[in-house]
Amino acid sequence: MPESDNRAPAAEALGPRSRILDNLPKRAIGIDVGGTGIKGGIVNLRKGKLVGDRFRVPTPKPATPEAVAGVIGTILEELLSRAKAPAEDQLAVGVTFPAIVIDNVVLSAANIDDSWIECDTSELLADLPGRISTLNDADAAGLAEVRYGAGAGRTDTVMTVTLGTGVGTALVHDGVLVPNSELGHLEFEGVVAETKVSAAARERADQPWPEYGDVLRRYLSHVERIQPVGQFIIGGGVSKRSDDFLPYVTGLRAEVVPATLVNNAGIVGAALYAAEQAAAAEANS
Ligand code: BGC
Repeated sequence: MPESDNRAPAAEALGPRSRILDNLPKRAIGIDVGGTGIKGGIVNLRKGKLVGDRFRVPTPKPATPEAVAGVIGTILEELLSRAKAPAEDQLAVGVTFPAIVIDNVVLSAANIDDSWIECDTSELLADLPGRISTLNDADAAGLAEVRYGAGAGRTDTVMTVTLGTGVGTALVHDGVLVPNSELGHLEFEGVVAETKVSAAARERADQPWPEYGDVLRRYLSHVERIQPVGQFIIGGGVSKRSDDFLPYVTGLRAEVVPATLVNNAGIVGAALYAAEQAAAAEANS
């Protein structure tokens, strides 16, 4: 493999932590908590793909920790009733939140109910089956894209930017996640970036795609001045329309590509993260 080629197959090219992939159980469960829906699925960790359909429940209103925990329980029950569910004695469950999550504690609430702040999800979800780990939604998507999707095999620094109600960012270097980058909250052209760059902001302003592409170009060039990367992966539902706006995202140092896991990236990344956390805890016990 020539040294300049940073698209080598994942297992050989990625650093030591990613080799843990070989020792993971075949399947795990991922659950993605969003503003309108909570979606879960069984994930094949070898392929980074869903096994069977995902199961979606509308996000309760108000989306308090207790109400959301109830829905997570319902989703888990449904997924575990399936023939291809992971065995309960080696069950890892990853749950994402659109918030900063450190050591399973939620520390921000930009687009979720304020009652999440300081919520310890290990306590909140303690009665549910499996080893549960929680993380930021964009981090889960970024991890999935770099391990299985648009950034597969890259050893350099990759930033996934999810464009939805807010703007999430995930920084992954050599296959290892640096969590909670939150660059959607950077100051950008005098405002908090996500108020101008999110897919919701485009819809609110009924902005034509070329103009939106130009906003994204300016935002990413601002980001890369602060955190240079080799590749930006553009995710979130709007990435399905990437042909309409990515052609206007030009002149950046980094390569800019659409996400390939799109709607399932959060579920897949959450499942992988949880399985790795469980394996790491096992190895250290
Ligand atoms: C939140 C992030 C989240 C992003 C995407 C932002 O408003 O601060 O934590 O990743 O939205 O949901």
